Amino acid sequence: MIQITRREIFNAAHRLYNPKWDKDKNFEVFGPCSRIHGHNWELFVTVEGHINEETGFVMDLKDLRDIMREYIISKVDHTYLNDDVEFLKGQLTSTENFAISIWKILFPVLENIGVKLTKIKLVETANHYVEYFGK
Ligand code: NI
Repeated sequence: MIQITRREIFNAAHRLYNPKWDKDKNFEVFGPCSRIHGHNWELFVTVEGHINEETGFVMDLKDLRDIMREYIISKVDHTYLNDDVEFLKGQLTSTENFAISIWKILFPVLENIGVKLTKIKLVETANHYVEYFGK
């Protein structure tokens, strides 16, 4: 089995804010992340499958790019994640929750075209990122 990965980048703002708490409690827990701030995010989507003998590809990376753009990037780029993104509604917009939501959207789409999603890597800053493997 072999894996391939496509990266896409986007810009989006968010804040870590639990609506059940007041502003002070949110600041105590999340610090400056409780204020609205932006990131240049990087999304890495990894799939595995068998190599197609006619193309030498697991899948055409242009198709993976198009799927990432259609289902995720176009919905999140230049948005305020907490308010503007339907699939994040009602969630804390931590990188963890964000990565899991992306997985849930992409897994069935990729399964439909015969490849298996194996990893979502979501980079929030140069110093931290989240990886989700579906369990
Ligand atoms: Ni942040």
